[in-house]
Amino acid sequence: MEDIEIFLADRTMLSRICEIEKESFSVPWSESSIDYCLSHYPNRVTAAFRNGALVGFAIAMFIEPECEIADIAVTPSERRGGVGRALMNEILAHGSDLGCTDYYLEVRESNEAARRLYSSLGFCEYSRVRRYYREPTEDAILMRLGINERLEQRLGEN
Ligand SMILES: CC(C)(COP(=O)(O)OP(=O)(O)OC[C@H]1O[C@@H](n2cnc3c(N)ncnc32)[C@H](O)[C@@H]1OP(=O)(O)O)[C@@H](O)C(=O)NCCC(=O)NCCS
Repeated sequence: MEDIEIFLADRTMLSRICEIEKESFSVPWSESSIDYCLSHYPNRVTAAFRNGALVGFAIAMFIEPECEIADIAVTPSERRGGVGRALMNEILAHGSDLGCTDYYLEVRESNEAARRLYSSLGFCEYSRVRRYYREPTEDAILMRLGINERLEQRLGEN
């Protein structure tokens, strides 16, 4: 989407990122955890803006050749507008620049929106961790995207 802008986040964005985190998860990351990610390699925090407002963010950890997508959230009123996809695409593009070949993440079994987003980008389920999440207790689905799947995905889009 043309009106979505993605920037590297900095500490001036911390309070807004924490707000979105709290409105998105039953067990949100603490402010200190997100603050740590904002300034400590290999974590990288990106923020999505629409009409000048911060509407979403993502935290990824780049340890080439692997990348772990640790957190992603979009403020409820802006969901289904392409922000989550734009954040994910930026992570994949940055990973590609670094030479990352494998991307990993975990997601609640019931999180249909996120699972569909990841599947649409080429992520595949490869395992499950029973009762990984709390509030409510739920299995985690582990997903992976390899560079070959990404290439196949792109060829399929063209
Ligand atoms: C998951 C999340 C980040 C998606 O962000 P978003 O900006 O709404 O996603 P997008 O608008 O870019 O949607 C991209 C694709 O995801 C899927 N999707 C997103 N929301 C969906 C929904 N409510 N139902 C079904 N599919 C959905 C669709 O495939 C969509 O593509 P389409 O619009 O072309 O059909 C957002 O729902 C969110 O913040 N959820 C709460 C936090 C969370 O669960 N984070 C993930 C933790 S693993």
